Amino acid sequence: MYVAERVRLRRVEKDDLPRYVEWLNDAEVRRGLMIFLPLSNVEEEQWFEEMNKRPPLERPFAVDANSSNGWQHIGSAGLFDFDHVARHAELGIVLGDKEFWDKGYGSDTMRLLLKVGFETLNLDRIHLRVYGNNPRALHVYEKVGFSLEGTLRQHVYREGRYYDVHVMGVLRAEWQKNQK
Ligand SMILES: CC(C)(COP(=O)(O)OP(=O)(O)OC[C@H]1O[C@@H](n2cnc3c(N)ncnc32)[C@H](O)[C@@H]1OP(=O)(O)O)[C@@H](O)C(=O)NCCC(=O)NCCS
Repeated sequence: MYVAERVRLRRVEKDDLPRYVEWLNDAEVRRGLMIFLPLSNVEEEQWFEEMNKRPPLERPFAVDANSSNGWQHIGSAGLFDFDHVARHAELGIVLGDKEFWDKGYGSDTMRLLLKVGFETLNLDRIHLRVYGNNPRALHVYEKVGFSLEGTLRQHVYREGRYYDVHVMGVLRAEWQKNQK
């Protein structure tokens, strides 16, 4: 388990799955995600089985927030698509419990995941993709040190229109400089 003051990253357990089904069926939560079809409990259980067959490094984490009720499961985040030669990976995050949005938990989760990526997994670059319809996420990523690297124009179609997909990245050297 990776623990910071307000958030921690742990392995996903079977008990977590009903919460993922609820969150990922919420149109507001998945607006910025690749998922656009309804998700069933059976599909989520299949995802869980397949996820646990992936190499341990490539399994997403459950995100818990340190709330007034103790540690509470609020979402998922992780690194995937590792290139072990060039030492880069892609980052993904979803806080499904909307009660926890705009309270700094997403930024804290990003900071913890970057620390894990650079200090524990020895990555040199971490990148992500974010949709043009997600100003909150764009703001958070810039705040924690990501720079815009390029834009795939009109790359996704959501709710009746096309949106750009921005590729953002942070190098280990840039991240280290920000730690000082
Ligand atoms: C995107 C997400 C991870 C952000 O986490 P969060 O905990 O809500 O974000 P934080 O509270 O750490 O920070 C939110 C920041 O965005 C700002 N913000 C909120 N709405 C905004 C908007 N419409 N435009 C610009 N900034 C906005 C807040 O003011 C805050 O800025 P500040 O820290 O400078 O005051 C989370 O909301 C989420 O998971 N959303 C659903 C799934 C998703 O979109 N995932 C990302 C896919 S790329």
